[in-house]
Amino acid sequence: MTASQPPEHRPGSEPGRHNLDPHLDRYAARTAGMTASEIRALFAVASRPEVVSLAGGMPNLAALPLDSLSGQMAELIAEEGLVALQYGSAHGVPTLREQICEIMAMEGITGHPDDIVVTVGSQMGLDMVTRLFCDPGDVVLAEGPSYVGALGSFAAYQAQVVHVEMDDNGLVPDTLRAALATAEREGKRVKFLYTIPNFHNPAGVTLAVERRAEILEICAEHDVLVVEDNPYGLLGFDGQTYPALRSMDPDNVVYLGSFSKTFASGLRVGWVLAPHAVREKLVLAAESATLCPPTLNQLVVSRYLATHDWKGQIKTFQENYRERRDAMLSALEQHMPPGCTWTQPDGGFYVWVTVPEGVDTKAMLPRAVTARVAYASGTGFYADGFGSRQMRLSYCYPTPERIREGVRRLAGVLESEMELARTFGSVTTRAVSGPQFPGPDTV
Ligand SMILES: Cc1ncc(COP(=O)(O)O)c(C=O)c1O
Repeated sequence: MTASQPPEHRPGSEPGRHNLDPHLDRYAARTAGMTASEIRALFAVASRPEVVSLAGGMPNLAALPLDSLSGQMAELIAEEGLVALQYGSAHGVPTLREQICEIMAMEGITGHPDDIVVTVGSQMGLDMVTRLFCDPGDVVLAEGPSYVGALGSFAAYQAQVVHVEMDDNGLVPDTLRAALATAEREGKRVKFLYTIPNFHNPAGVTLAVERRAEILEICAEHDVLVVEDNPYGLLGFDGQTYPALRSMDPDNVVYLGSFSKTFASGLRVGWVLAPHAVREKLVLAAESATLCPPTLNQLVVSRYLATHDWKGQIKTFQENYRERRDAMLSALEQHMPPGCTWTQPDGGFYVWVTVPEGVDTKAMLPRAVTARVAYASGTGFYADGFGSRQMRLSYCYPTPERIREGVRRLAGVLESEMELARTFGSVTTRAVSGPQFPGPDTV
């Protein structure tokens, strides 16, 4: 066999079977939940410059002061290189953990630096928390829709996700009660409620303050832990913040934080604030995952917090994203066909759109990409195949002009899709349940 032979012609290989993975029967059972996104190839096309991507959730880093950051990084290596380039503790750099406490105080949290574990992004926190608490078959309650990366972690540990309904004010307490009652009736063990209370990804809504205590009470009554994921909490467009669930019930809430949206996602620095009793297990889980989070990146964040006007930078991000949100909402108002509805985010990155009966957003996506606009179809944000009439639009990355143009193109595609549905009936794909890897957030 020569290297140039196509795989079909290799001796012993069956024609057409060269795509089969020879390691298939070696994988652990838990990998069954790990499926590659069927739309990955499409996203390769969607990232071409002529396509307006409203699909990804990439922060708009152009607003960062790159010049002063680069000077600061050079100083860091010159002054603290032997520490910055060395292993550190699994717990994270102590000064950074103290600074993180100050940040969380802005949302009413009084945490102790000892109870913080620095992670490689809050995605690692999600993975660790699921690893610590979930056996296969355990139930995790999560808003419907929910963050695709969290659904991926739950699937990887074979947890069963039960979605809990949201409305414009976030998670609905009565549906939480009902989901818990059903799980108890069915003899299922609910391990935790996973919730994104502020500027939800993908729904764009915020949990009403008056619901927060009630949700915590319900979870405490049923002996269910709360995992609060809050990467967008400081990105309210009017500078508004909301009391963290963690601030109201420190013993029953694991809090996940991140510098990805308020500073730099590529540094991959996040954290978990655990109830004191959980902290030790969390450190051990972190140690087995990475030995320690990258010291250099932690020191970059720590220096940035100590020497930059980071609150001013967050204000700049808020203004930037507010301008883009405004562009998206006014374009939706102007162009979307009748029968479409969408949420009105007052912070964060996303608008959640519901389209009329008969339109399937997953089936429509290739046509949208052909019309040079991309979005994230709704099914990826549910673990149960729901979401075919929904889509997530991100306004964080494109310029306001591109957003307006993207929505205009999307509305045109929707119009023709609705026309097709009226003429021939609905166009559906088979229900593809999320979560899919990679999440659309990196596109
Ligand atoms: C709700 C939510 N949680 C967690 C993450 C992961 O963030 P990180 O970059 O800190 O891993 C994201 C990223 O988009 C997110 O939207």
